[in-house]
Amino acid sequence: MRVALTGATGFLGRYLVDALLAKGFEVVGVARDPDRVPELRDRIALRRADLLEPRTLVAALEGVDALVSNAALFSLSEGSPAAYTRVNVEGTQNLLAAAREGGLRRLVHVSSVAVYKGLPFFPADERHAQWSERDRPSRFTAYAISKALSEQECWRSCARDGIALTTVRPSAIYGAFDPNFTRVLRRWLAWPIVPAPVLARLPFVYAGDVADAVAECLARPSSIGRAYNVAGEPCSPRALAQAFYAAGGGPKRPLVPVPLPLFRRFESAAAVRDLGFRNRPLVEGFRDLLVRERAAGPSRML
Ligand SMILES: NC(=O)c1ccc[n+]([C@@H]2O[C@H](COP(=O)([O-])OP(=O)(O)OC[C@H]3O[C@@H](n4cnc5c(N)ncnc54)[C@H](OP(=O)(O)O)[C@@H]3O)[C@@H](O)[C@H]2O)c1
Repeated sequence: MRVALTGATGFLGRYLVDALLAKGFEVVGVARDPDRVPELRDRIALRRADLLEPRTLVAALEGVDALVSNAALFSLSEGSPAAYTRVNVEGTQNLLAAAREGGLRRLVHVSSVAVYKGLPFFPADERHAQWSERDRPSRFTAYAISKALSEQECWRSCARDGIALTTVRPSAIYGAFDPNFTRVLRRWLAWPIVPAPVLARLPFVYAGDVADAVAECLARPSSIGRAYNVAGEPCSPRALAQAFYAAGGGPKRPLVPVPLPLFRRFESAAAVRDLGFRNRPLVEGFRDLLVRERAAGPSRML
């Protein structure tokens, strides 16, 4: 099966390339700048397209059997509400229109647990209430709302056009070449004394495990019509720090407890049951991350 992958040159995109190839799919990477990650050139076909340029998307999807919609705007440091709406909502609409025009029959959309609104203390499963068009995006909610609206658009559009859809909702992802959470984690863990919130539990998931779950969706028709949380078990900042140092991520620093209550938990039982999803232990994830980055050379480390 020939699979188009948007955002192939991004953080999760590079793991998705590996996971799709490992499953035996032929991969067509769709990227704004196909030269951004030169080592992809030898492994997959690359086509240039932008979510905001509809004609480029039609050309990029020509002759493919399935699509993994992974490209989106996500940044912990930048991104206005207008930019999130434009890229994530309107860009996804453009992609869906191109899929329709190309007669595509299968789509796996990378969504996010950010789609859930008003998170409870107990674990949120896939039926939890989502952000909707009635919610006004602010700087803090714009990404979450845009991910909810873009996924909802996928369900509507695919139902209308007869495209078989699965959506995957990862929690915060860490891994190699990650410009977001992993970069912040590294800066935090390199402070001479590291403040470690004692009341916080965060569900980090390794990028390789998210990518495997996405590839598994394509391989298993039983996933059609379903949404899957793929989230890590909530871990304390202390456990995260210890795993990072134990994996060789940097010199060990003293951890100082600070009170900061922050608790997020998502139920991934459906992905475990249907896709064989497993989030590897943190120390394994950090080791794999470091191996990947060191293999690419010091100039490519974040
Ligand atoms: N990171 C997380 O913790 C997390 C958690 C849950 C869900 N997700 C979702 O996972 C997916 C991948 O995110 P990521 O973390 O890998 O972020 P990333 O590294 O920023 O990757 C995003 C990809 O989207 C591409 N892109 C952005 N705007 C585009 C546009 N206008 N046209 C075409 N492509 C565009 C980027 O292209 P360039 O390569 O040219 O920059 C990049 O390849 C997203 O759907 C995100 O919402 C991420």
